Amino acid sequence: MTGGHGESPPKIMKPLFATPVSLSPCSLPEGERDAGSLREFQVNTRFSMIAAMAQNRVIGIDNTLPWRLPADLAHFKALTMGHHILMGRKTFESLGKPLPGRTSIVITRDRDYLAAGCVVVHSLDAAMRTCEGDEEAFFIGGADLYRQAMDHSERIYLTEVQTRVEGDAWFPELDLQQWQEVSRISHQADEKNQLNYDFVVYERKQAVERT
Ligand SMILES: NC(=O)c1ccc[n+]([C@@H]2O[C@H](COP(=O)([O-])OP(=O)(O)OC[C@H]3O[C@@H](n4cnc5c(N)ncnc54)[C@H](OP(=O)(O)O)[C@@H]3O)[C@@H](O)[C@H]2O)c1
Repeated sequence: MTGGHGESPPKIMKPLFATPVSLSPCSLPEGERDAGSLREFQVNTRFSMIAAMAQNRVIGIDNTLPWRLPADLAHFKALTMGHHILMGRKTFESLGKPLPGRTSIVITRDRDYLAAGCVVVHSLDAAMRTCEGDEEAFFIGGADLYRQAMDHSERIYLTEVQTRVEGDAWFPELDLQQWQEVSRISHQADEKNQLNYDFVVYERKQAVERT
């Protein structure tokens, strides 16, 4: 995941307000549909991904983070506080609890899954729909979720950790035809953060396809 020195998020030139995303109710599984409101709904939310990745794209090992970077955790907290955070079931289990001050959405195919203090949903669409009313919502991992979220996201907050590590979860390749770097703040290792790292923001060059 990703963190800061308590500094404010990087300045982005574009406004934070997204154009509405229409999610087709037909893509929702039977159990996610309810009468009326799902005929066609819109989510006036900008979806972003937030991750910390090594030079070899590793983001995790044994369902945990491969490094300890308190600055990255602070950065993650500053960006996501007050917002919806969307996560795969494995990432939730690695966190172990909902993160305070945020609405935690846990995605699983297990219909019986319970996660105290979280909203549990069973599809990506259902997860995105819960974010209605939030100006920005964050896909916070892991690898499985990032792969699916890429096409729905307009911004990526990526902490590029300047190391190569072993792992079993990777951040997907970025198609630089579609994504451009708009901000990069480099930090040197210090006594609390043992690795060099860059806080990078990528923005999608063209709007997410909306129907
Ligand atoms: N460095 C970072 O920024 C960062 C951030 C987050 C996580 N991580 C790391 O990433 C690793 C975990 O990633 P992961 O890919 O193994 O797992 P994950 O993406 O966290 O979770 C995968 C699970 O989410 C559920 N899921 C995913 N897509 C779904 C869909 N469309 N509909 C319903 N359920 C869906 C499934 O749960 P069920 O099996 O229950 O159906 C699936 O097994 C860990 O090592 C973690 O530490 C790193």
